[in-house]
Amino acid sequence: LVSFVGGSLGSWRIENMEPVRGEPIPVVDFLEVLEGSIGSIAPSARWVLRGTTSNERYATRREHDELVARQGTLGRPHATRAALIPVRKSAAWWELSQDERRAIFEDRSRHIAIGLEYLPAVARRLHHCRELPGEQFDFLTWFEYAPEHVDAFEALVRRLRSTEEWTYVEREIDIRLAFHGGLTRR
Ligand code: HEM
Repeated sequence: LVSFVGGSLGSWRIENMEPVRGEPIPVVDFLEVLEGSIGSIAPSARWVLRGTTSNERYATRREHDELVARQGTLGRPHATRAALIPVRKSAAWWELSQDERRAIFEDRSRHIAIGLEYLPAVARRLHHCRELPGEQFDFLTWFEYAPEHVDAFEALVRRLRSTEEWTYVEREIDIRLAFHGGLTRR
């Protein structure tokens, strides 16, 4: 379980928060990413978004191996920029069967093929929260990259948002961050 805690304290300074689609969440100045209990940081929290890392649903063996071969790890010292993008998909998406979702996600929208172009510059971790009680999103997506890859990341999100997959996104917040290291990183 991973908690993203927005408030007056955190290792990441929030540079921009943009409601791309649907209801916004309160604007805060800092974010902390915590595994397990949020403990001592709780009093400074304005909101907490929780998600779990999980098994892959869509990637084929071949895609999975390619991702593993190319991806970078989180916490790289030069990757001082990050994005937290919570996403909720529509009822229409969840009513599709798995093979229909895979066809939209990859065969037609090329999510993995596009994403692979940005590895290892962008390191990523996907968190699921649709099954967690009280959570407002289906996914919390987290990305880390160096300042020189800010423009590339911008191009990546623009490409993904123009896909058929994204027509099923009914809520999305784009939160951009810079690491300042006030608290321990992870
Ligand atoms: C850095 C390049 C990226 C790569 C390599 C990548 C790769 C992937 C892969 C492999 C999955 C599917 C995992 C599975 O099999 O279940 C996935 C899911 C997802 N990604 Fe990306 N991605 C990238 C960038 C992004 C960006 C920038 C966003 C948000 C703007 C995003 C949002 C999502 C969401 C919401 C899902 C869950 C989709 C679902 O299960 O319906 N990804 N990504």
